[in-house]
Amino acid sequence: MSVDSSHQRQPGLIQIYRPDAAAVRAELAAGLLGPAARIAPKYLYDALGSRLFAAITELAEYYPTRTEAEILARHATDIASALPTGATLVDLGAGNCEKAARLFDYLKPARYVAVDISVDFLQQALHCLQREHPLLELLGVGLDFSTQLVLPPQVGTGPRLLFYPGSSIGNFTPAEALIFLRQAREVSQGGALLIGVDLVKPVSVLEPAYDDALGVTAAFNRNMLLHLNHLLGSNFDIAHWRHRARFDTEQSRIEMYLDAMQDQLVQWPGGERLFRRGEAIHTENSYKYSVPGFEALLSEAGFAQIRCWTDRQNWFAVFTAQAA
Ligand code: AVJ
Repeated sequence: MSVDSSHQRQPGLIQIYRPDAAAVRAELAAGLLGPAARIAPKYLYDALGSRLFAAITELAEYYPTRTEAEILARHATDIASALPTGATLVDLGAGNCEKAARLFDYLKPARYVAVDISVDFLQQALHCLQREHPLLELLGVGLDFSTQLVLPPQVGTGPRLLFYPGSSIGNFTPAEALIFLRQAREVSQGGALLIGVDLVKPVSVLEPAYDDALGVTAAFNRNMLLHLNHLLGSNFDIAHWRHRARFDTEQSRIEMYLDAMQDQLVQWPGGERLFRRGEAIHTENSYKYSVPGFEALLSEAGFAQIRCWTDRQNWFAVFTAQAA
């Protein structure tokens, strides 16, 4: 085996998203000062938050990750046959790139593009991937696609297969999801979409998935306040905040909140808010769909030849859809 790595292909890396610290602080302050305080779920993911989320995916109560992996493993050949081979595989929210890598043998992509908010998170994973797939062209893109999905020209021409797993689409309202799916269809350049979507199920299964016995989800949610203290310079005392998750049947969504356990004044440079005991900060929504409901959304977004695979309990669905 050669020890000379100088001829080894190297993953490309580009950082597009450059968060403007002042704009971030203004957005956070505006969210905290609204009549109903709220913070966007992307702020759950600082370095510790990302690790806590990884821990969540290992919990018995948190079925989505494991159920989606089961569906993808069991039906890999079938799913791949519904998708273009030799396309550019674009992984939206790639993280450790594990989910997509398991599909390489089936999808046989010409190029793999891992997109996440920070290219720093992707660098290590792509470096390891390159060793396992020395001939595959790899590109890491640091991009925040939560407000707009536009890919840089380095992603290249030709049809793209967009991979959006984990039911991350559930963080959008259905109206936002429709806009996102329309953009995904545009961005695929005549390619296709492979997406994982969490399904409606009994509240007795849904709520524990977002409020586990070990308290990992509680730590994940409460850690957002530590992240805010860092970004905003606020003085949240996490001892005074409790995690809450509830399923809203009307809107078909899990809602996560942080509840103030006592009256408290929270201050940051240029602002403050008195939170009364029982007042809440809304931190996340996670929408749950029916199979026909999500199919309707995909076709409204202009996708065709929609196919769906689910697990035995109908807890989670994987959809394929063609742009053209
Ligand atoms: C990463 C948005 C898919 O909604 O299930 C997990 C985030 N929040 N537990 C989800 C999450 C609390 C997760 N998504």
